[in-house]
Amino acid sequence: MPRYPDSLIDLIRERADLLEVVGRRVTLKKQGTAWLGLCPFHNEKTPSFSVRPDKGYKCFGCGEGGDVFSFVMKSKGVGFNEAIEELAAFTGIPLPRDAGEDPELLRRNEARQQMLDLMAAARSFYQEELQAPGGTAARAYLAQRGLSPELIRQEGVGFAPAGWNRLLERFGGGAAAAEQLEAIGLVTRKAPGERPYDRFRERIIFPIHDLKGRCVGFGGRLMGPGEPKYLNSPETELFQKGKLLYGLHAAREAIRKGGSAIVVEGYMDRLSLVNHGVFPVVATLGTAMTPDHLRLLWQQTRKIVFCFDGDGAGEKAAWRALEIYFDGLEADHHAAFLFLPGGEDPDQVVRREGATGFNARLEGSLSPVEFLIRRYGSELNLRDPEGRAALMHRVRPLLAKVRDPLLRELYIETLGQRLHIPLPLTQKTRRPDGPGRVEEARPPLAVPFHRRPVRRAQTPSQRDHEQALLALVLRQPRFVKEREEELSRLQLENAQLSRLLTELIEWGQQFAETPESWPEACFSTPEQARLAAGILTAEEVSPLQADEEFAGCLVSVHLKALRRERLGLMRRIDLEGDHDHSLMTRCHALKLEERRVLERKVLRDGAG
Ligand code: UTP
Ligand code: MN
Repeated sequence: MPRYPDSLIDLIRERADLLEVVGRRVTLKKQGTAWLGLCPFHNEKTPSFSVRPDKGYKCFGCGEGGDVFSFVMKSKGVGFNEAIEELAAFTGIPLPRDAGEDPELLRRNEARQQMLDLMAAARSFYQEELQAPGGTAARAYLAQRGLSPELIRQEGVGFAPAGWNRLLERFGGGAAAAEQLEAIGLVTRKAPGERPYDRFRERIIFPIHDLKGRCVGFGGRLMGPGEPKYLNSPETELFQKGKLLYGLHAAREAIRKGGSAIVVEGYMDRLSLVNHGVFPVVATLGTAMTPDHLRLLWQQTRKIVFCFDGDGAGEKAAWRALEIYFDGLEADHHAAFLFLPGGEDPDQVVRREGATGFNARLEGSLSPVEFLIRRYGSELNLRDPEGRAALMHRVRPLLAKVRDPLLRELYIETLGQRLHIPLPLTQKTRRPDGPGRVEEARPPLAVPFHRRPVRRAQTPSQRDHEQALLALVLRQPRFVKEREEELSRLQLENAQLSRLLTELIEWGQQFAETPESWPEACFSTPEQARLAAGILTAEEVSPLQADEEFAGCLVSVHLKALRRERLGLMRRIDLEGDHDHSLMTRCHALKLEERRVLERKVLRDGAG
C-alpha cells in the first residue's frame, strides 16, 4: 500500500527526471526521440533498453518496462514506498514524517529507534569480546570451522563471554538498563521480578539483520556439547523469525544481479557457503520456511534454490517448502530443490567439494515436478500403471493450490509427460464427456451483445470470447501486466477489438503500479472509448472467477485463431492446389496444436 498521498507521488514523478535516474546506472545514447542503452535487467551486448523521458522505459530484449518508480523498484529490489523515499531524496522533495502528527506513533517510532540503537551497541560489544583476550577460544573455534577473519568481520560475528551479567554491566548494570535489554531479548529472568541475567553466555554470536541492514537479533552457538546448540533472540517487536532471513540484506544486491537466491537451513551453512564463494545465499532461522519468507524472496528474485540436508528432516522441510511454494505460485516464479547426499549439510559438502563441487550440485537441483516424482517415486512403483495413476492422484491436491490455471495445466502436462501418461488418458479418467463437448460445456455468461454487434450471427451459445476477454482486461487492468506475453501473441479476429487490446497492452507497459481502472486517456479515440463502454455493459464478470474466466477466454480465442488459419489454408489448397504439400503439412500441424490446446483446456476445466 502506498504510504504517501497521490499528489505527492505525482509531484515526485514529475520532478524525478527519468533520464537522470536511469542515467545513474545505464549509459544512454540518444537515438531519435528515445535514448538507448544496455539493459540493466538482463545481460546483453547490444543495447535494447530504450528510455523515453515523457513515457517510460522499455527493454525490447527482456520485456521489462515501466516508469521512474518501477525502475528504482526493479533496479534496487525495493518496494514502492522505498522507491518513493529514494526519489524524494533524489529530487529534494521533503516527505511528511511517517508518524505524521500522531504523538502516539511518534513515541513508538522513537522507542523502536532506541531499541535498534541498543541492539547495534550490543552487536559491537559481542564483536569486541571476540577480539578481546577472553575470546581466544572462540576465535580458535571459528578458525577450526574454516571461517576467514574477513568474513567474521564483515558479518559482525561476535562472542558472548562467560558470566551472568557481562552485557548488563556493560550498559551500566542498573534497573533501567536491565529493562531496556530485556525488551530486546538480551537480558532475561527466571520469573518476573527476579534477578536479571544475560541471555547469551559463552556462545558464538551471529547478528541477524533486517532488510535495511539493521541488527534486530542474534543467534548464539555453543562451542562445545550442550543444549540447546543454538539459542536465538526471542520473538519481539523487532525480531520475528518467520519474517527474517539470515543474510538477506547482505545478499540482496547479488540476488538481484544474479537473478537467483539459494536458501539453506543453518547459520553455519550460509557462512560456510559465502566463505567458499558460493553466493548469494540466505538462511532460515531454525524455523520452517513461511509464506512471509517466500514473499520476501520473490520481491528480490524470480528464482529460488532450496537447499536441504539429505536426511529425513531435510526432506520434510523441503516438502513443507514445496507446499507453501505452490500456494503462492505465479507464472515466472521458479523454484529448484537441492538434496545433499547422506545426511550432510551444505557446510560439510562445500568444505569437502569446494565451490565448484557445490555449484555443480546446484546445477543439478530438481524442478518442482521432478521433486514430486522423486518424493512419490520412492514409495510407488512408477513402472506400473497403478503406481503412475496413484502418483497423479496424490499430487492433484497439491497442484490444485497453484492459482494460475495455465501454470497448473502445464504442471499436469509436464508430470504426465515425465510419467509417460498420454494426455487423452488422464483426461478420460477425469471427464467422461471427453473433448468433443468442451465447446458446449461452458454455459454462456454473456448477456447477448445488443448495442453494436462485433461479430455477425452471434447466438448466445456461441459466446464471443474475444469480447469477453476484452471485458476482463477492461475491468481488471492487471491482466495486461500479468499476462502481457500471452495477450500480445494472441490474434484477434475482430480488428477493432484487436486494436483496442494492443493499445491497452501498450498502456499497461507505462504503469509502475497497475491502476484499479483504466484512465479515460487510455482510449485514443472517442470510438475506442465507446467500444470499451459497450463491451463493459454487455459483459458480466464475477470478480472472483476473473482468473478462471480469463484463462478460459484465452484458450478459446487461441483455438479460434488456429481454426481460422487452418480453414484459410484449406481454401487456398482448394483454389491453388498444393504441389509440395507444404500447405497440407502446415494444416496438419495446426490441427495437432488445436488438439493440444483442447486437451489442456479439458484438463484445466477438470482441475478447478
Ligand atoms: P543444525 O543442528 O543442522 O546445525 O541446525 P548446523 O546448521 O549444522 O550448525 P553446526 O554446523 O552444527 O554449527 C540448523 C539450524 O537450526 C537452528 C539454527 O538456526 C541452526 O543453524 N537450530 C538448531 C536452533 O535454532 N536451535 C538448535 O538447538 C539447533
Ligand atoms: Mn552443520
